[in-house]
Amino acid sequence: MTETIKGSVVLITGATGAIAQALISGLVARGAAKIYAAARDVSSLAALPGLVPVKMDVTSDDEVAKAAALATDVTLLINNAGVNRNTAFMLAPDLAFAREEIEANYLAPLRVTRAFAPALIKNHGAVLNLLTILARVNLPFMGSYCASKAAALSLTQGLRGELVPKGVRVVAALPGAVDTRMTAMLTIPKMAPAEAAAEILDGFEAGEEEIYVGDMARGLAQGLAHDPKAIERQLASPG
Ligand SMILES: NC(=O)c1ccc[n+]([C@@H]2O[C@H](COP(=O)([O-])OP(=O)(O)OC[C@H]3O[C@@H](n4cnc5c(N)ncnc54)[C@H](OP(=O)(O)O)[C@@H]3O)[C@@H](O)[C@H]2O)c1
Repeated sequence: MTETIKGSVVLITGATGAIAQALISGLVARGAAKIYAAARDVSSLAALPGLVPVKMDVTSDDEVAKAAALATDVTLLINNAGVNRNTAFMLAPDLAFAREEIEANYLAPLRVTRAFAPALIKNHGAVLNLLTILARVNLPFMGSYCASKAAALSLTQGLRGELVPKGVRVVAALPGAVDTRMTAMLTIPKMAPAEAAAEILDGFEAGEEEIYVGDMARGLAQGLAHDPKAIERQLASPG
């Protein structure tokens, strides 16, 4: 099962995003042999040696199937694409945002992993899912995002049960706040994307199954281990 980045063939979804861009730089620096950079719009992807742009909307069965047919040499699938509508359950006008988040954050990594599983099994590869520490406890002002990531955490556990016996490693990264477009409206301390990417790749290469990224994520994980109700209450009334 893939543990080292050197020589790996990676496909990363949502490759135009800030964490994805930092991961791509880190993967190149650590000696990845080839990186399929999958995005809805590939026109802005920088030309790098070994980088293969792939047009892929993760909500499209057709585009995901085409990408999987093309990239049969993948050894590491990174499910990074994600959506956060930053909306509370009761303040959302209807279910549209919640549906969009579930589509992008839960059903899409399920779709993409199903499509790439034959290659990953053949290549003894790995799946790395970009979750969040908020998959483990709800932050009500972005409640439906947290629910979609909780579903993705359960997906990750289920995939591990199914794919590890077939020789595929399944890893989750659970960052705290990272300074990207997704968190632009938050004024709390945020990690730089490069710092988050380095911790994710370090954890992956260290063989971890759940990588807590940054002090915020590690602190909340520790709190959840000791007093989960206190953490739930803390997030329900932040500040
Ligand atoms: N920022 C944080 O604090 C934080 C913390 C924990 C976890 N995360 C997770 O980290 C991942 C990356 O987020 P980020 O912070 O780097 O945000 P970002 O800069 O907004 O990147 C999100 C990426 O996902 C892509 N995407 C969204 N829907 C897609 C679709 N249907 N098909 C293909 N790509 C799609 C976006 O593509 P477009 O450019 O086409 O919109 C964008 O490239 C997400 O899964 C997020 O939930 C972020």
